[in-house]
Amino acid sequence: MSLVKNHEKMETNVLFLVLGIFVTVIIGGLVEVVPLFSIESTIEKVQGVRPYTPLEQMGRDIYVREGCYNCHSQMIRPFRDEVERYGHYSLAAESQYDHPFQWASKRTGPDLARVGGKYSNDWHRRHLINPRDVVRESIMPGYPHLMRELSFADIGPRIKTLSVVGVPYTPEAQAAAADDLKNQADPAADHTALLARYPKAVVGDFDGHPEKITEMDALVAYLQVLGTMVDFTEFDPKSARNFR
Ligand code: HEC
Repeated sequence: MSLVKNHEKMETNVLFLVLGIFVTVIIGGLVEVVPLFSIESTIEKVQGVRPYTPLEQMGRDIYVREGCYNCHSQMIRPFRDEVERYGHYSLAAESQYDHPFQWASKRTGPDLARVGGKYSNDWHRRHLINPRDVVRESIMPGYPHLMRELSFADIGPRIKTLSVVGVPYTPEAQAAAADDLKNQADPAADHTALLARYPKAVVGDFDGHPEKITEMDALVAYLQVLGTMVDFTEFDPKSARNFR
């Protein structure tokens, strides 16, 4: 009986009631959130995920600048229709070096999380200049201005900033950023050092003009790496083998 009486006291006193709700919600929140800080699988460590090369990173910044995320998501949800259309569902680890992440929420165009390797560089260049040239019914806008030269004087500070927020660029990678950028877009260069730092990077000319580095080079290099870092022939979500 006294419990009911006490409860009435609480329900008829606004301050007391609000305080009670507050405490209850806090406890509920803590129970849900706190374990995520220590559970190792909050972001599964997955083999193959690496920071973007300087050229890919510039491409990513152009992707953000041009607002591609307004029409394209980069997050394949674990539903059968999505997996059959786009490939393996996205893992949290695959966007762990994205600042900010590009999951987005609207799909006027298809999801791009695994578009890497789906088309040739030439297809991407033609598609980005005028989408109607390759997909007749496309409503995507053209981006012909991307054929202008890429300005990358600030690539060093960009990479350094990312390392401050936790992207594991080594000091050597930071120092070599501008050289790595030029190296990736140069089909004639020796790519050994670049590929040692950034395994599986797609190298060569991306925009049909090997003599210059354009914004198109950077954006296509970025599109070509999307979703390709993790080898899903070896990935088994139930196995501890994936975790390092
Ligand atoms: C107004 C909405 C819109 C914007 C903005 C937009 N797209 Fe698209 N995109 C589409 C549509 C619709 C398609 C499907 C038709 C086609 O292939 O052109 C598409 C298709 C694509 C494809 C082919 C995907 C596939 O799997 O076939 C790529 C790659 C792509 N877009 C990249 C980009 C990039 C990069 C940007 C930013 C520079 C961008 N899009 C901006 C609407 C948009």
